[in-house]
Amino acid sequence: MLATKLPTDLKTTPNFLTTAGPFVTWAGGKTQLLGQFDDLFPPDFNNYIEPMVGGGAVFFHLFNNSRIKHDAFLIDSNPELMNCYFVIKEDVDSLILELQWLAEEYNKEPKEFFYRVRKWDRSSGFLRPRSLLFIGEI
Ligand SMILES: C[S@@+](CC[C@H](N)C(=O)[O-])C[C@H]1O[C@@H](n2cnc3c(N)ncnc32)[C@H](O)[C@@H]1O
Repeated sequence: MLATKLPTDLKTTPNFLTTAGPFVTWAGGKTQLLGQFDDLFPPDFNNYIEPMVGGGAVFFHLFNNSRIKHDAFLIDSNPELMNCYFVIKEDVDSLILELQWLAEEYNKEPKEFFYRVRKWDRSSGFLRPRSLLFIGEI
């Protein structure tokens, strides 16, 4: 099982965005249901453990509302998805640069470039974060 731990003092670091949200549209995501679910959640959490984080709609909702008081442990059996969380946590600036490059290349020859990126993924046996996020956006 793959997991990542987020420090909840992130919000006190300079320039940290005060809200974050799912970075992929994930089958079964709970974004549309948060209004219905919210009353069922405890008012706050000490340590928050999400065993099937997926796109993280519930996690981001609780985090953005400061309801996670200590650490958050995000877990999912999908290695490509967990790799995205790791890369976003560890080196988001490099990922943004790669995505900008992908967007530029895509704009030159959309169809050909889309299939080229998809082929990279298949040959490597897993979806690298930039490709997963890129393909998810198209
Ligand atoms: C419906 S999404 C989770 C929704 C998410 N918690 C939210 O807040 O929107 C389902 C996720 O559960 C993961 N999953 C399914 N079975 C699992 C298992 N046995 N262990 C860990 N993760 C699992 C899938 O990989 C997928 O990413």
